[in-house]
Amino acid sequence: MVIAIDGPAASGKGTLAKRLAAHYRLPHLDTGLLYRAVALTLLDAGRDLADEAAAAAAARALAPGFLADSRLRGSAMGEAASIVSAQGAVRAALLDWQRRFAGAPSGAVLDGRDIGTVVCPDAAVKLFVTASAEERARRRHRELEGRGEAVPYDEVLADILRRDARDADRDAAPLRVAEDAVVIDTTALDADAAFRAATDVVDGRGGPAG
Ligand code: DC
Repeated sequence: MVIAIDGPAASGKGTLAKRLAAHYRLPHLDTGLLYRAVALTLLDAGRDLADEAAAAAAARALAPGFLADSRLRGSAMGEAASIVSAQGAVRAALLDWQRRFAGAPSGAVLDGRDIGTVVCPDAAVKLFVTASAEERARRRHRELEGRGEAVPYDEVLADILRRDARDADRDAAPLRVAEDAVVIDTTALDADAAFRAATDVVDGRGGPAG
């Protein structure tokens, strides 16, 4: 079974995807890391994030081992990834990679922005995980504080709103809810409740072998 999970920045989709993958013993791909890795490759090479030819070449040359780089996880790289991910040639270069991963005999869990709409339109389960921008900003703010990064809440909220707009307004595979996706709004749900809501959907479709 392929479980496709999409949603905006800081919606909790990554945490949920990891838990579902562990629970159902499926491989998991955080597709945001691919775009982050393309951005990091460009920055390391001193290239402009808007250099489409360099970005597409970086996407084509991406090696899986690169996804373990700890620099990929910071919020600056998320913003940089959002810029390169608006480029159609970058998305095209990463598409086969993601589809091969999703084609594993066991099935897989993939999370991102366009998994249910573009990468895996035939996924057995599509979840769209979202929460209000204010709640997502509160969570991200707490997470940053926990890491010792003191960023004012208003700045975190502004970042989230800017990223939402860029991810949703681009021409290439914009963030949107697949017609057959189940929406899980986590504004008033903790991680356990979101996990229960998701397993209810998966189990209702016959479980991971269904
Ligand atoms: O999920 P994330 O924060 O790691 O994603 C970083 C950026 O990458 C996000 O702002 C948009 C882009 N992205 C995308 O366009 N498509 C995906 N499937 C995953 C991420």
